[in-house]
Amino acid sequence: MAWSLLIRGGTVIDGSNTPGVIADVGVEGDCIAAVGQNLQGDAERLIDAAGLAVAPGFIDMHAHSDLVYHKCPSAESKVRQGVTTEVVGMCSFSPAPVVPGREKAVHDWAAGLGADLDICWETFRQYLDHLRRLGVALNVAHFVGHGALRLAAVGADKRAATDVEIECMAGLLDEALAAGAFGLSTGLVYPPSEYGSTEELIGLSRRMAGRGGIYCSHIRGEAHTLLEAIAEAIQIGEEAGVPVQISHVKASGRENWDKLDRVLAMIDEARSRGLDVTGDVYPYAAGSTKMDNLLPGWMHDGGIEKCLARLREPEMRRRVLAECFLKDGRWGGHGGTVGWDEIAIASCSRRDLEGMNLADLARQTGKSPPEAMMELVLAERAGVSMVTFTQSPDNVKKVLAHPHVMVGSDSITLTAGPGPFSGRPHPRTYGTFPRVLGTYCRDMKLFPLETAVHKMTGLSAAKLGFENRGLICRGFAADLTIFDPANVNDEATFSDPHRHPRGIPYVIINGNVVVDEGRMIAIPAGQVLTPKSN
Ligand code: ZN
Ligand code: CU
Repeated sequence: MAWSLLIRGGTVIDGSNTPGVIADVGVEGDCIAAVGQNLQGDAERLIDAAGLAVAPGFIDMHAHSDLVYHKCPSAESKVRQGVTTEVVGMCSFSPAPVVPGREKAVHDWAAGLGADLDICWETFRQYLDHLRRLGVALNVAHFVGHGALRLAAVGADKRAATDVEIECMAGLLDEALAAGAFGLSTGLVYPPSEYGSTEELIGLSRRMAGRGGIYCSHIRGEAHTLLEAIAEAIQIGEEAGVPVQISHVKASGRENWDKLDRVLAMIDEARSRGLDVTGDVYPYAAGSTKMDNLLPGWMHDGGIEKCLARLREPEMRRRVLAECFLKDGRWGGHGGTVGWDEIAIASCSRRDLEGMNLADLARQTGKSPPEAMMELVLAERAGVSMVTFTQSPDNVKKVLAHPHVMVGSDSITLTAGPGPFSGRPHPRTYGTFPRVLGTYCRDMKLFPLETAVHKMTGLSAAKLGFENRGLICRGFAADLTIFDPANVNDEATFSDPHRHPRGIPYVIINGNVVVDEGRMIAIPAGQVLTPKSN
């Protein structure tokens, strides 16, 4: 036997939630050809994994890197975490489809997430082909965003879709599914997805029934409307007859923290009725999104230009303040209540402001905190992102420990060092997976190592319907992550986020060693996955 790669003597944790065993893994080309004791034969490349864990490559269940692949083709912040597949097109955002004449609307919509899309596609298939030509560093599974469908069929207006428009969205969804989308994502706090009714979403999701498509949702509020929003997501899945994935499960805002147990119970109840309801989570008590999401939804009616125009009107600002500026000085948006020192500027065009919290910005500018926030959103033309500390650390542990919750970073891949994204992004961008393995599994002993690995591999692969990824198994794709269980952890912090993790010496994607003794080798080793091809 001749192996292209032989990994010797590691503890193989195969992704199925069973304890590891010491074994060799033999790779031929892009495939795992054998797993067993003392594999014989020559190897083009030998990795001595004694003392290390050998796991399937990690699957990031929730990512937004599709907005920046053209700028960060190496996907370094992801690959160095051991991620070999990421799921993108989340929270209603996807770069396709785009109908002719609406390119600028899609461009502006993505701009606030750090994207500068050069749109040269219309259909979902054309977009996937574009990405294939560009080449991707890791495997990518796409969802189609409800926001993209709505921008194409309805535009950015806050209104119900007509029957004709719903039919148009359904046609675009059909096309995306046929091209290789794994399902439909919604972001029901983000315009224009939030303008879609429950009925609209049931109708669209029905088009996925029997075709394996998943309804994946950033639900309609993670704060005071949390329980109703979970119920809506489950209802949509139940009435449409499709699996449900609840994105970044959380209870946002102190006053809502005690609702979290009920959220997990609702997922369990739905599952006990036979529904396929699961969730994902990132291992941090802070979230990150665009700062203009602090504004009430009606401010976004008609798109970002109209939002900015409203921000210039004193009367509109007064309405925003009356609605959201609470008597105790905190802010009450759809993300729950938050103090001004709990909101940090993550990235904007003014480098000197990055990392600063809004209480400090207010002091510096001599304005009230909400006025300072609105001025900043206006000055940056909404191109400002933030990190908000609104969750309970205990709840993060509860969600992560839930048997049907997998790991998803909710991040955009970056490359360390100076570049277009050198602000202060949420550290989940660099640290999600090693943090679960190190801090939550080894240090807090939240679950055994095989369970941590399962939540990043086999569990996610099963949800996505992968038939040959997510496990270490003969015939499966050679996506492998080799880490040191005693040392692995994140290094990225909120004040110093651009730091790669430690304890992950090797990452292999489709048989290619892309992290080798801790060094990144940037090659387009990934594939654009489709439900049939993976
Ligand atoms: Zn989201
Ligand atoms: Cu997201």
